[in-house]
Amino acid sequence: MIHTLEWTDSGVRFIDQTKLPTEETYVTCKTYEQVADAIRNMVVRGAPAIGVAAAMGIALGVKTSKADSGAELKLEFDRMCDAMAKTRPTAVNLFWAIRRMQDKFEYLRTRPIVQTKQALVEEAQRMHAEDIAANQAMGRHGATLMPAQGGVLTHCNAGALATCGYGTALGVIRAAVEQGKRIHVYADETRPFLQGSRLTAWELMKDGIPTTVISDNMAGAMMKQGKIGVIVVGADRIAANGDVANKIGTYTVAVLAKENGIPFYVAAPFSTIDLETADGSKIPIEQRNPREVTHIAGKAMAPEGVQVENPAFDVTPAKYVAAIITERGITRAPYEDSLRKLAEATATVSR
Ligand code: MRU
Repeated sequence: MIHTLEWTDSGVRFIDQTKLPTEETYVTCKTYEQVADAIRNMVVRGAPAIGVAAAMGIALGVKTSKADSGAELKLEFDRMCDAMAKTRPTAVNLFWAIRRMQDKFEYLRTRPIVQTKQALVEEAQRMHAEDIAANQAMGRHGATLMPAQGGVLTHCNAGALATCGYGTALGVIRAAVEQGKRIHVYADETRPFLQGSRLTAWELMKDGIPTTVISDNMAGAMMKQGKIGVIVVGADRIAANGDVANKIGTYTVAVLAKENGIPFYVAAPFSTIDLETADGSKIPIEQRNPREVTHIAGKAMAPEGVQVENPAFDVTPAKYVAAIITERGITRAPYEDSLRKLAEATATVSR
């Protein structure tokens, strides 16, 4: 069992993903500012994990607050939410989680502070448990799309390390393997941050799932050689029309999949679907430090002063996506209709 992030009595505890795979170390954040830094610096990363980390950070800030009036606590709470919202712009799960904590805070407004503190801690813990349950449900749905045997390509890390446990894309693969399917994973190394080779390979090997790491530029050749039967990736934000923002390089993989007649699936919880954003062109794309591109393990791989681009995500148009796997079921194009219907159907059920 991988403990990506956990609520503890002394703070929010993270496995430090910047140190994997060579060191398995943990850090405990004792203030909400430390949690915000952990998100910004990728100690914790992956859309669902970022969302729950932010919720836990806010709960931690509220729990340790010295405010002695509701008005004072509200001022501090707003500051905490702002700090979390400024960490990373693309994964909508972050904003979904902040909104959920804000709704809860509003609902608790007239209660004594001690009750508000307790209820917000419980809300963050509930989000953690719900995320694992959603991944398991996604796994059950998505496993039906996996081949009985053969190669499955994934990009970046959409596994236990990117969530509270089990994973989205890797959850689908895990569920298929648990059903007896003989899957061999091809993990794109995922330059520049190497989430594929450092994190995906690490967690799949821990589970004994056969894995081959390839550099990103090998994916097309592997597809052409017939080594890849299916592709499954995660997402950071899915627009209302089904356009998918995910780790940089995903778009390339999707186009290559189409060219080679390979189904390209996206697995994501409903908290990743942003019905308020009409299409992918409106999704903010995070630009990260150029040093992530020019340096590997502190060593320069490019001449000093060269111009660099480092967008952390790209957008794959919906036309390349064979299906979106959520905890509520599998949806297919036209996504404008299917995503909205899925949201409405589930809203009716849960009322
Ligand atoms: O920059 P990262 O490592 O946070 O990017 C992560 C991804 O792009 C994942 O594929 C996505 O968040 C889905 S994780 C279940």
